[in-house]
Amino acid sequence: MEKIRVLYKEEEIINRTKEIADELYSKYGDDEVVFVCTLKGAVFFACDLLKNYKGDGRIEFLRVSSYEGESSTGKINLKLPLDAEKINGKHVVVVEDIVDTGYTLEFITDYINDMYPASLITCALLDKKARRVVSIDPDYSGFIIDDLFVIGYGLDYDQKYRNLPYIGVVEKD
Ligand code: IMP
Repeated sequence: MEKIRVLYKEEEIINRTKEIADELYSKYGDDEVVFVCTLKGAVFFACDLLKNYKGDGRIEFLRVSSYEGESSTGKINLKLPLDAEKINGKHVVVVEDIVDTGYTLEFITDYINDMYPASLITCALLDKKARRVVSIDPDYSGFIIDDLFVIGYGLDYDQKYRNLPYIGVVEKD
């Protein structure tokens, strides 16, 4: 059985998510906002964000993939597209689990911008800033972390560990 070191407990994650939800509400007020949850990793974070968002928040889902094991393949595949009608002319917030090299976030923002939203911002639970290859930063991030492979709270290692109610690091012997 692997040993997992806890980085962020559920309570810390939820408190930080509430702060972001309130910041977003002060930005949009009562305007309709479409939160685009990127599957599968951002699903826990997106649910927390939506539950704590006091305005008119809608939800749509997008699935892309680039990771195999612990490394990005660099090539992004669109697995579940968005319905352009739900995006065109809307205020859109992309909800990501983690930004690493930045290839995925860049792909997603280009993809959504082609649908002509009224505005587009991005929000990631975690930001591995030191690993960035593409010059892109999320507009909002929960926590900036070191170059560690993290799991839990939606994040996986080969589909495992998503269900952990905290963010952790697998300790290798
Ligand atoms: P990027 O394209 O390199 O920025 O990678 C972004 C995607 O890779 C995220 O949406 C995650 O699915 C995955 N990813 C990057 N770092 C980690 C990690 O530490 N744990 C789990 N998944 C990760």
